[in-house]
Amino acid sequence: MDRLTLRRPDDWHLHLRDGALLAAVAPVSARHFARAIVMPNLVPPVVSGAEAAAYRERIRAALPGRRFTPLMTLYLTETTDPDDVIAAHASGLVTAVKLYPAGATTNSASGVRDLDRVRGVLEAMAEAGVPLCVHGEVTDPSVDIFDREAVFIDRVLDPLRRAVPGLRVVMEHITTAEAAGYVTTAGANLAATITVHHLVINRTHMLAGGIRPHYYCLPVAKRETHRRALVAAATGGDARFFLGTDSAPHTDAAKESACGCAGCFTAPVALSILAHVFEAADALDRLEGFASLHGPAFYGLPRNDETLTLAKSPAPLPHPGSLATGAGPVTVFDPGFPLHWHVAEDT
Ligand code: DOR
Ligand code: ZN
Repeated sequence: MDRLTLRRPDDWHLHLRDGALLAAVAPVSARHFARAIVMPNLVPPVVSGAEAAAYRERIRAALPGRRFTPLMTLYLTETTDPDDVIAAHASGLVTAVKLYPAGATTNSASGVRDLDRVRGVLEAMAEAGVPLCVHGEVTDPSVDIFDREAVFIDRVLDPLRRAVPGLRVVMEHITTAEAAGYVTTAGANLAATITVHHLVINRTHMLAGGIRPHYYCLPVAKRETHRRALVAAATGGDARFFLGTDSAPHTDAAKESACGCAGCFTAPVALSILAHVFEAADALDRLEGFASLHGPAFYGLPRNDETLTLAKSPAPLPHPGSLATGAGPVTVFDPGFPLHWHVAEDT
């Protein structure tokens, strides 16, 4: 098979940033994706309905004439007002709320330290059907960074889901066999997004033969057995797994530093890599489910009507290298193998 037409995909986890980066990266995602769940971890974070409305306007202004729907999220803090969340969701402004454990990742300092302090918001969300997107890593300094996701499931996520059973939860950017297994055994209230980069790199790719800062992200890539478990989850057809690229641009200066930022800028090559992964798993017929159908089903949103056609060229595609932005160049994620699939048509 060298052509594949699917409903236009959505990206259920995306960082669009602000200012010069927003202006450069928003058109890249809008080229291939119809909608995206937009992460709220700006500096300062997007914590109120009013701030989400203002951010949505800045995103729209960066995309003149484009049909692209930013699905906004609110950054959960210990002072989040449940009424503001429910009103912002009821009006259609906000699609979900994001939980960052304080200190877990980029711009997460205002996140949640004590889940008991947000119990009221979570109960109101469960009642109103507002999904919670979760960055699933503990921040306990005594827990090894490679174990932080698995420990989070036992210490935080499972107790949280038992305490607020009606809450719809998306475990974002899962990286372990434990997370994939946990989602598989849970009920319909739990789903997970999987990134493109975690489907193709493991920690050895990042660290052997020299450190590759553009492979550094959070949660950090794990060992090969986990990558294989993620590929099995993504390509297996289970509707609880769907695409969230977590495309997270940082300038090269911020990445290639003594203390480099976490994040892989995958948006320009996400669909090319995804087609490669699904073809290698002999599962191209399941790509549409993962990229275009399972996400809207979980979020209770309509499927996209438009289509997109992927084509496979015999010669490898030139890698885009980096994207020029007003803040400096941003290196595009390179999977380390040649890509042949590309977007051929768009309707
Ligand atoms: O690698 C990451 N980058 N993981 C996150 O959770 C945040 C993101 C970012 O905002 O750069
Ligand atoms: Zn993210």
